[in-house]
Amino acid sequence: MAKPVPRFVCQSCGAVTSKWSGRCDACGEWNTIAEETPTARPGPAGKAAPGRKVDFVPLAGSAAPPPRTETGIAELDRVLGGGLVAASVILVGGDPGIGKSTLMLQAAARLAASGRPVLYVSGEESIEQVRLRARRLGVTEAPLGLAAAVNLRDIAATLEQTPAALVVIDSIQTMWLDTIDSAPGTVTQVRASAFELIRLAKSRGFALVLVGHVTKDGALAGPRVLEHMVDAVLYFEGERGHQFRILRAVKNRFGATDEIGVFEMTDRGLAEVANPSALFLAERRGNVAGSAVFAGLEGTRPVLLEVQALLAPNPGGSPRRQVIGWDGGRLSMLLAVLETRCGLRLSGSDVYLNVAGGLRVNEPAADLAVAAALASAAADRPTHPGTVYFGEVGLSGEVRQVAQADARLKEAAKLGFETACLPRRLARGGRAPTAPEGLRLDEIGHLADLVARFAEPPGA
Ligand code: TYD
Ligand code: MG
Repeated sequence: MAKPVPRFVCQSCGAVTSKWSGRCDACGEWNTIAEETPTARPGPAGKAAPGRKVDFVPLAGSAAPPPRTETGIAELDRVLGGGLVAASVILVGGDPGIGKSTLMLQAAARLAASGRPVLYVSGEESIEQVRLRARRLGVTEAPLGLAAAVNLRDIAATLEQTPAALVVIDSIQTMWLDTIDSAPGTVTQVRASAFELIRLAKSRGFALVLVGHVTKDGALAGPRVLEHMVDAVLYFEGERGHQFRILRAVKNRFGATDEIGVFEMTDRGLAEVANPSALFLAERRGNVAGSAVFAGLEGTRPVLLEVQALLAPNPGGSPRRQVIGWDGGRLSMLLAVLETRCGLRLSGSDVYLNVAGGLRVNEPAADLAVAAALASAAADRPTHPGTVYFGEVGLSGEVRQVAQADARLKEAAKLGFETACLPRRLARGGRAPTAPEGLRLDEIGHLADLVARFAEPPGA
């Protein structure tokens, strides 16, 4: 039998090389390469059995949507695309301490209370610790099966015999297969453990949740490879110091991605936030220059957010641009457009931009709100407190259409806003958004028109 050749695996991206180096050529990370000895394949050495014939079928045929089991936590069910799908695998990632275990214990308990068999395997915490959390969450009566275990061979043998609708593994990085000669948490271990669990989920038909930790740059620690093996990847995120948490689907074979669930961390666990706009705008003060409300969209859900801009004089020196919750490159572009196309002098100022509440906005539709906040800050005149803004800004300063204007307008009207500043409706083609009752539409064709309003004397 051939001697196993040592191989080296990047613990960050999973790339395999034949020799060690300080830096991974594939992902550029330092000190992530570790030696992992491959294990012999199971089965008789030498002759492999011949493969079986694969059947091909036509595209047309029965394609029933998968049946779903609702966890009863509406925010979670929405992100999942309507509930848990049997035999599907969900990876829940997030920073340590963000609330993954809390969320999964709440969901597992809720499902167990509805009479379904649920198993929760904790590899990080002892039985006592999980029980303490359950007491805090008020779910001690839920009939779920709890185990503290890390040995995957034992866990797999148990799952083979135990009926379950949902199995939670908290976390996949603590799981350990004794047939593999590397430490828990390494790519090889995590991948092999996940593979075994996924195989069980598919053959036994239970929904499987793998909890995983995330590194500071947002990648699932080690097992980036895992993202390809699972059906859905959900990230649980939030700013430290803020009470609320966002559950975001970044991959979902059974539903839409970019859907979010909003929760609030309380002293009795995670509470669902049914109306996030009200939460995000709760601390807004009217009559402050540099603040504008953005009518945004998170997945299918409209969310109103406050964008804050602050300008501070910086004569000489190179001005600072600091952004929280938005894209720094996009801010530079907007500043250039404001300066070049609208005649707003900003290059002598430090610019600070913040999306209040800690949510991260990725939509270009926020351009108009950011521009309004900047123009308001530059003129030292507040935006009208009853106005929301949305629209994309192009390089020549034109304000462009964005998706789902109707949904944004409806949310603004629901929260009592009076005016919406939005892109001018297209002359031909394109459907004009209809104004909900009580909301006035204020169409902006060019960014300079918006900037000019802040320059007008009051009452003009
Ligand atoms: P946890 O679910 O353990 O995080 P993770 O599994 O992602 O590492 O959450 C831990 C934090 O949540 C901890 O700082 C305490 C806080 N917490 C509450 O504020 N209220 C609660 O009811 C619970 C259970 C936790
Ligand atoms: Mg945890």
